[in-house]
Amino acid sequence: MYNSKITGLGYYVPENIVTNDDLSELMDTNDAWIQERTGIKERRWIDKNSDESSATMGAKASKIAIERAGLTKDDIDFIVFATLSPDYFFPGCGVQIQDMLDMPTIGAIDIRNQCSGFIYAISTADQFIKTGMYKNILVIGAEYHSNGLDKTTRGRGVSVIFGDGAGACVLSRTDDNSKGILSSHLHSEGKYADKLIVKSPSIKNWVPDIINTNGEDTSYYPYMDGTFVFKNAIVRFSEVIKEGLEKNNLNTEDIDMLIPHQANLRISQFVQKKFGLSNDQVFNNIMKFGNTTAASIIIALTDAWEQNKIKENDLVVLAAFGSGFTWGSVIIRW
Ligand code: COA
Repeated sequence: MYNSKITGLGYYVPENIVTNDDLSELMDTNDAWIQERTGIKERRWIDKNSDESSATMGAKASKIAIERAGLTKDDIDFIVFATLSPDYFFPGCGVQIQDMLDMPTIGAIDIRNQCSGFIYAISTADQFIKTGMYKNILVIGAEYHSNGLDKTTRGRGVSVIFGDGAGACVLSRTDDNSKGILSSHLHSEGKYADKLIVKSPSIKNWVPDIINTNGEDTSYYPYMDGTFVFKNAIVRFSEVIKEGLEKNNLNTEDIDMLIPHQANLRISQFVQKKFGLSNDQVFNNIMKFGNTTAASIIIALTDAWEQNKIKENDLVVLAAFGSGFTWGSVIIRW
């Protein structure tokens, strides 16, 4: 069996910065409420007149990651793309990356696991490398939320949280079993699917059916039972981090850097306090990018790495919780 390690990281966010004050011009909200409840100061939203999308942002992040890995597009054997906001109903964004980066006709899959999307994606890539099937896999998380949000007071409980952006990494084969991804841990509990959901359009409720309700059917906007999600998130985050540490005979003191999915700063702070971690052991950047769902962990990991907060041999823990419900963790020796 081989091991896999991250050899290149990159992220891309749209230029357009949307502050909390900007949002208060669209809906009844304010900077103090948003910061106190979520920690978010600003987020990036794609300018609607631009041609950016989950796939184009993913392609930009990928180019940076491949270059930093010291590879070219022709060295990549496989693409794994995580998103809940694909450019098309089908096909998925993975194949668009293959085309946009002018890659050979390698395989590409899309992962549909929302906030846990990047954890599921990198874990999937890890399995292909562990078995020896592939040597270098491009793993992407990208989201274009802003065009799908209800930006009125009706949708304020959800729309202030989400931002657009993309991150990517190259996962490569290594013979050194002491380095790289040590383990990954994936979970789901589908009975809570309707607690955080975009229900339509679906094949059961297709576009003409929605139009026929003359605006009364708003099930194409995200719905979130915020309090219920929050309560479940803090429990599952804690459980799955512990599960990963125990699997590797490690303790919370061994964590050099925890990169939690940037769901809400209060969730990260709860987990930090519960495990007694210092500010240096947890990285957050939700303040400037909001919750970018499948992109958030890889954007945060790249941001932390660019700030020299991750060093050789560090124990890096990634953890996520989100719609599904799905949750998971990845334990990495850098
Ligand atoms: N601005 C101002 N007021 C707002 C608002 C906004 N953007 N959104 C909601 N409110 C109001 C509500 O209408 C409510 O008013 P009321 O008391 O008059 O009815 C009040 O603020 C409290 O709303 P509530 O939903 O109870 O707030 P909360 O403290 O639970 O915070 C969340 C809301 C969404 C921030 C919080 O539940 C949360 O973070 N949940 C986790 C969500 C998450 O992380 N999701 C990501 C996927 S993992």
